Amino acid sequence: MSKVFKDKNILIGISGCIAAYKSADLTSRLIKLGANVKIIMTANATKLVQPLTFQSLSANPVYFDTFQSTERWDIEHIALAKWADIFVIAPATANVIGKAASGIADDLLTTTILATEAKTLFAPAMNTVMYQKKVVQDNIAKLKRLGYDFIPPGKGRLACGDWGEGKLADIEVIIQHIEKHLNSSTKRDMEGLRVLVTAGPTCEPIDPVRFITNHSSGKMGYAIAEACIQRGAAVDLVTGPTNLQTPAGANVFPVESAKDMYQAVLKLYEMADIVFKSAAVADYHVKEVASSKIKKGQDSIKLELVRNPDILMELGKRKTKQVLVGFAAETEDLEKNALEKLKRKNLDFILANDVSSSESGFQSDENKGILFSKDGSITPIPLMAKKEFAHRIIDEVIKKVKSD
Ligand code: CTP
Repeated sequence: MSKVFKDKNILIGISGCIAAYKSADLTSRLIKLGANVKIIMTANATKLVQPLTFQSLSANPVYFDTFQSTERWDIEHIALAKWADIFVIAPATANVIGKAASGIADDLLTTTILATEAKTLFAPAMNTVMYQKKVVQDNIAKLKRLGYDFIPPGKGRLACGDWGEGKLADIEVIIQHIEKHLNSSTKRDMEGLRVLVTAGPTCEPIDPVRFITNHSSGKMGYAIAEACIQRGAAVDLVTGPTNLQTPAGANVFPVESAKDMYQAVLKLYEMADIVFKSAAVADYHVKEVASSKIKKGQDSIKLELVRNPDILMELGKRKTKQVLVGFAAETEDLEKNALEKLKRKNLDFILANDVSSSESGFQSDENKGILFSKDGSITPIPLMAKKEFAHRIIDEVIKKVKSD
C-alpha cells in the first residue's frame, strides 16, 4: 500500500454527469489507500447517485446543495476548503469547468473551488462534441494557466452511445494523478535528473500475424518511471507492448522488437543521467521473417533464431556519466548470475529477482529481490508493492548519484 495517501484529506467534488457512479469506486479506493475522503455533490449529481452511497463509502457526511441553511452553507464551504489537502472534481462537467473558469460560485462545489487553496484537479467527463467545443477548450486552457490541473478524459463509448473523447479517465489514472500531487509535496530528490527507463517485453515477428514474446507485464518498469516522475525527474520510457496505462508525465517511446528498443535507447542514452533497464529483451529474433502469413503444411517446421544485440551491454561499453541499473531475472543461482551480469555489462547496480516465484514474478503486482552494487553493497528488498519497491531501488541509486 502506498504510504503517500495515508491520513491525507482528499475532497472529491462530483458534478452531474452519468460517470458520477464511478466516483464511488474512486472513493472506495482512496479509503483503502488510507486517505480521509469527504464528498461534495452538486444538486444534479444527487439525482444520478444517492448521497448515501458516498456517505457509506467515505464514512463521512456528504455535502450537497440543499440551500436549506444559509448559516451552515457559509461555514461549510470554508471549512471544507481548508480541510482539503487536495480537491478532485471527478467527474467535472462542462458546466462546472465553465463556472470555475469564470469565477462563478453559485453552489457549494463551485464556491469551494474558489475558496480553497488546495491543489485542485479536474477530471472532465462529457460528450465528445461538448468536450471539443472551443468554449470548453478555452475554459480548460484558462484554468490550466491559472494553475489548475486536468486529468484528460479517455476515449471510448460514451453513455449517449457516441464514440470518442470524453469518458471519465480510468480511476487508476485519477489515483496516479492524485498520488503525483501528494508526493510532489514530499520527496523531490530527482529534480534536474533525466532518467531513461525500459519496460515490458519485446515482440519478435515471425510473420505478419505471429511473434515470439515473453511474460513480462511491464509493471516494474512503469512503477519505476512513475516513482522517478513523482520525485521530480524527467523520464523517457521506452516500452514494449503492455496493457498498462502510461505514467502521467513520462515521454513514452513505444517499441516492438529488441532492434527497435536498441535504436530508441541509443538515441536517448546520451541525455540520461540514470538508466533503469527493466525490459525483458528477447535474446533472439527470427532470421527470416515471412512477408505473408505462414500457412500450415508440413508436420514440422523450423525457425532459425539469431542473437539480438545486448542493449545493456552496449550501454555499459558507451558509459560516460550514466548510472546503469540492470535487472537479472533468474530462476536459479540468483546471486552468482546477477553478479556475473553486473561485471560483464559494466553496471553500477543490478536488481536480481527470482521470476519463478509466483509472489514476485513477471505478472505480479508485488516484487522482492536483492540489489547488488558495483561497490559491493547488498540490499535485500522484501516483498512489497512494485511501486514501493521502485522507491526502494531509487533510494539506493540516488545515494550513489548524490555522492559522485
Ligand atoms: N538485456 C538487454 N538486451 C538484451 C538482453 C538483456 O538490454 N538483448 C538487459 C535486460 O534489460 C536486463 C539485463 O540485460 O536489464 C539482464 O537481462 P537477462 O535476460 O536477465 O540476462 P541476459 O543477459 O539476457 O542473460 P541470460 O538470458 O542468459 O540469463
